[in-house]
Amino acid sequence: MRARLATPRDAETIVHIYNEGIEERIATFETRPRTTEDVEGWFGGAHPTVVVEDAGSVVAFATTSAYSPRECYAGISEFSVYTAHEARGLGAGRMAMQALIQAADRAGFHKLVSRVFVENAPSRELLLSLGFREVGIHEKHARLDGAWKDVVIVERLL
Ligand SMILES: CC(C)(COP(=O)(O)OP(=O)(O)OC[C@H]1O[C@@H](n2cnc3c(N)ncnc32)[C@H](O)[C@@H]1OP(=O)(O)O)[C@@H](O)C(=O)NCCC(=O)NCCS
Repeated sequence: MRARLATPRDAETIVHIYNEGIEERIATFETRPRTTEDVEGWFGGAHPTVVVEDAGSVVAFATTSAYSPRECYAGISEFSVYTAHEARGLGAGRMAMQALIQAADRAGFHKLVSRVFVENAPSRELLLSLGFREVGIHEKHARLDGAWKDVVIVERLL
């Protein structure tokens, strides 16, 4: 396996992996399946996206986005990480996050933040093992399929 910066050629696979995660309802409040148009702004801009390849196929991605429009928070990036269902548990998510941490640092960000569903044990374990801190829990932060969900705020200084 190897990690690299994503390019527009990865858009289709990224969308496929992301949509698997959306359908599972364990990772995100998003429910609308994504298209390649939705991710076309993910490449080559200020906020890095990385992919992990195994035997030439992309099996995981991690991506950053703006945390806030306020200038004082410009050094903070939000992130998310997804591994293709059939490739989980093989180290791809860890490799993607390690590459994203490096890429975000090189891009000049000073902190990564995200919100993780409290019951998303794989994600919480992965992030804790990479030096993320669980800041606290937002209760009933939003609804997924009508049900309120709590989320853990995680952060890591770069
Ligand atoms: C979270 C996710 C990205 C982990 O990716 P992965 O490629 O399966 O993870 P890895 O094989 O690299 O495992 C890295 C670490 O994650 C944790 N982990 C992975 N699967 C786990 C599980 N089923 N239970 C508990 N911890 C787990 C472990 O700490 C593991 O380290 P270890 O192998 O040394 O024990 C993957 O489960 C996923 O895509 N989930 C759906 C999307 C999601 O929840 N994204 C996070 C929210 S943004």
